[in-house]
Amino acid sequence: MSDNSNRRIIITGFMGSGKTSVARALAERLDARMIDLDYIISERERRSPRALIDEEGEALFREAERRALRVVLEMNRARIIALGGGAWTFEENRELVAAHDCLTVWLDAPFALCWQRIAASPGERPLARDHASAQKLYDERRSAYALTELHVEASTEKSVEELAREIAEAL
Ligand code: S3P
Repeated sequence: MSDNSNRRIIITGFMGSGKTSVARALAERLDARMIDLDYIISERERRSPRALIDEEGEALFREAERRALRVVLEMNRARIIALGGGAWTFEENRELVAAHDCLTVWLDAPFALCWQRIAASPGERPLARDHASAQKLYDERRSAYALTELHVEASTEKSVEELAREIAEAL
């Protein structure tokens, strides 16, 4: 097993699992920098993931996502990287992450909690437009998320600080 003390940390999990908030709390705890891959995509493409998917389709968004991930892994020194919920489900992206020896974390929140958050910002996540399609995607993706190194269970009872502590303790 690798020495985790200096490794970068990749946080994945379904839409609405709290990746960005936990990454922020972890960055504070470790006194490190964090970045959000969707933010980098927005900066590079001058459009949000939502607009890219709505206007150009998912395939083009995935290309932009893959390019952004490569750039972040190669050029950006942020210690903590929060991915968009789909990025880790592509083998090419997982290989890219593996080549950079990052600690990968699955923030595993129950579907009901994810859906509650997704439904709170309607239209924000074009790939989870309704309860049934979001649930299907959630079920389909679990086997990919399970390929991460660290599994952290999120729930309404756990604060983002507690989740960040769980990750920090694994380092
Ligand atoms: C996606 C998740 C979104 C964003 C895009 C696609 C997905 O990020 O990257 O809408 O395929 O799960 P969040 O997980 O931060 O919502």
